[in-house]
Amino acid sequence: MTKKQISQTNVTNQNEVGKSSIWGGRFSSGPSQLLQNINASIGYDQRLYQQDIAGSRAHATMLAHCGIISEEDLMAINQGLAQIAKEIEAGDLKFSLELEDIHMNIEARLAEIIGEPARKLHTARSRNDQVATDFKMWVRMLLENLDRALAELQAALIAQAEAHVDTLMPGYTHLQTAQPVTFGFHLMAYVEMIGRDRSRFADAHRRLNESPLGAAAIAGTSFPIDRQMTAKLLGFDRPAANAMDAVSDRDFALDFLTGAAICSMHMSRLAEEIVIWSSDRFGFVKLSDAYTTGSSIMPQKRNPDAAELVRAKPGRIVGSLNGLLIVLKGLPLAYSKDMQEDKEGVFDAADALGIAIAVMTGMVTDMQPNPENMRAALTNGWPTATDLADYLVRELKIPFRDAHHISGSIVALAAKQGVDLDAVPLADMQAIEPLITEEVVEILKVDNAVAARQSFGGTAPSEVSAQIAAAKKRFHIG
Ligand code: ARG
Repeated sequence: MTKKQISQTNVTNQNEVGKSSIWGGRFSSGPSQLLQNINASIGYDQRLYQQDIAGSRAHATMLAHCGIISEEDLMAINQGLAQIAKEIEAGDLKFSLELEDIHMNIEARLAEIIGEPARKLHTARSRNDQVATDFKMWVRMLLENLDRALAELQAALIAQAEAHVDTLMPGYTHLQTAQPVTFGFHLMAYVEMIGRDRSRFADAHRRLNESPLGAAAIAGTSFPIDRQMTAKLLGFDRPAANAMDAVSDRDFALDFLTGAAICSMHMSRLAEEIVIWSSDRFGFVKLSDAYTTGSSIMPQKRNPDAAELVRAKPGRIVGSLNGLLIVLKGLPLAYSKDMQEDKEGVFDAADALGIAIAVMTGMVTDMQPNPENMRAALTNGWPTATDLADYLVRELKIPFRDAHHISGSIVALAAKQGVDLDAVPLADMQAIEPLITEEVVEILKVDNAVAARQSFGGTAPSEVSAQIAAAKKRFHIG
């Protein structure tokens, strides 16, 4: 849907404070302008138009199949709905605030086009099951799109990881040099996180996929409808088992928002690493011009604005999750108008997460790692101190706590001498621990330290290659 279509500008307010044509039967005067303004959701729920039309088609097909409306009525309804879809697509349908929401706007337009049969469409249906069905289908489509987008991001990360299976860099804990790792290994950590994000969305999809249609307002209907049929026509696994539940829960939206909050947190962490890696001090990666902005005053600047904005997105996404939890908390069954407030946060979170994933994919694909700078960073922080301690345990049978202490003393010496661990003279090490032999020198080299970490899931290039191969299979990449 285009920007134009989703903006408020295509909503007209006739400012007629007349009786509602939808539910005005028992009223003697119309709603105030203020009520119309607070009541209407058409400004944003027009994003559901495709789902609303699909839901109405399925409902009408079922009504005809069950003999509740005629085949002629069904044909007229289908033709009218097809025309409306085209009108909305072209931006030609003016939505009206007085008609409240997308459901009533479409139904009213249908009546304009086909007359009488349109007035039969709402038989055995309520806006309560209608909106729950539409919104579920919209979220379902969203989950499917997100899965594809996340798979693309995984593919981008894997492509970089494959090119840097043996590119060494410091691994950090507390953002202090910890142990040498490979850049490919580091990137593969995110492939795993994103794999779990995808599985959370897949869970949400599986739980969501029960059709509310036919639950009607709250209690089902006395018409002989076929809920199995509409469920099947709309791609649901089955009809939701309890009509009251079907119209009154929005936990499917919360499932999406929870997954989105976690996923956006992962995006945010990767974004922050890219901010750090692309800084002057680190210089581990260079971002492409396509994902870098300049400064209006400092000509030398290449700012990672895109990464920073991805870093910020959890603010609004977690906000939407909190917002909907608070809207729903304490609501008695079944439908209350509060539930209309379920949509904007979901739409906003969907947009925010969608652009964050797309931007990360572009940034990761384009970024140019700088292996020289990564290796140079390994000369700070004595990243093989653990290997020294492990050597003392493995070869000299020294208990690990004692080995840790000895290794620490040798690090202190290296710091005093201003050298890497593998450059501390053997005699100086032996002065601290006489049993140390010259084989230690090889062990203290960063390449050997990385190559030695062959435990399952470890950072050795051989292991990272195996991780990549396995991840491609598990996540169905390339
Ligand atoms: N626009 C409403 C919503 O989003 C549709 C359902 C209205 N139902 C009702 N009984 N007022 O929730």
